[in-house]
Amino acid sequence: MQFVEAHGARIPQIGLGTMTLKGDVCVQAVKTALQVGYTHLDTAWFYGNEKDVGEGLRQSGIKRENVFICTKVRETHLEPDKFRQSLSESLANLQLPYVDLLLIHWNNKDIPFKTSVGALCQAKKDGFAKHVGVANFTTKMLDDAWAATSEPLVCNQIEMHPFINQDKVLATSKKHGMAVVAYCPIARGKVPGADALERIGKAHGKSAAQVSLRYLVQMGVCAIPRSDKPDHLKANLDVFDFKLADAEMAELKKLNDTNMRVVNPPHAPVWDTP
Ligand SMILES: NC(=O)c1ccc[n+]([C@@H]2O[C@H](COP(=O)([O-])OP(=O)(O)OC[C@H]3O[C@@H](n4cnc5c(N)ncnc54)[C@H](OP(=O)(O)O)[C@@H]3O)[C@@H](O)[C@H]2O)c1
Repeated sequence: MQFVEAHGARIPQIGLGTMTLKGDVCVQAVKTALQVGYTHLDTAWFYGNEKDVGEGLRQSGIKRENVFICTKVRETHLEPDKFRQSLSESLANLQLPYVDLLLIHWNNKDIPFKTSVGALCQAKKDGFAKHVGVANFTTKMLDDAWAATSEPLVCNQIEMHPFINQDKVLATSKKHGMAVVAYCPIARGKVPGADALERIGKAHGKSAAQVSLRYLVQMGVCAIPRSDKPDHLKANLDVFDFKLADAEMAELKKLNDTNMRVVNPPHAPVWDTP
């Protein structure tokens, strides 16, 4: 496993995304993932599966301290009291005293960064999170959050795959020394079957999904693909034994012009334009 380091955090470059996984499907996916070598789990209070993620961790037999666990606080809970309530529910669900990474899941434009980021930083000071960061932040939000924070924001978790151009937010995240964690790294299932990715994969004896993950790994970002299929879980980890050529990376980069954003809920910010 390779890692991305940022402000003292060491984030395994491939993690397991768990959104939509619930109940025993989630428990088994987490357990299998950890047993085949994953060391990074991504969940959120909003996913309603933290109990299952914690259960999968315990059933795997893998030591908790060998796993990097991220959860998130929703935009409805960014004021100090609600933030504490959400976080304490998350820790109770996971049955853990702390998480490795705690993120603001989405910004709330009606709450000043001093308040929301202040609550986030307090969670770290209280020992409930080893590191803190954000998700779905734009360039402007990153600059404003950094101006308000008392703790380093170690990552920005954003949508990234070959079909979206995130150059601006990537550059601003890097300017602040942050890791970028790519969600929807296989475009929520739209990568398999895409011509260029299938063709490039064939040349390397890999699948289109593996090409998408490798593209992200070579860009220096982390990726958190979701699957509940043991063969997909293994395949998604098996992206460190081949290298995409510069011309292949350039061809995949050109697909950014597709401009396909998979996740764009009503509470999303005005995104950076390419
Ligand atoms: N911060 C945020 O706001 C935010 C937003 C969205 C997502 N996320 C996080 O990012 C994670 C990943 O994003 P996502 O779940 O939306 O989408 P994704 O990981 O891009 O795609 C998941 C889909 O791809 C399929 N898949 C996985 N591996 C495959 C493989 N090797 N070959 C073929 N198909 C494969 C899965 O089906 P199978 O189960 O059949 O393999 C599933 O249908 C989430 O689970 C969540 O943890 C965060």
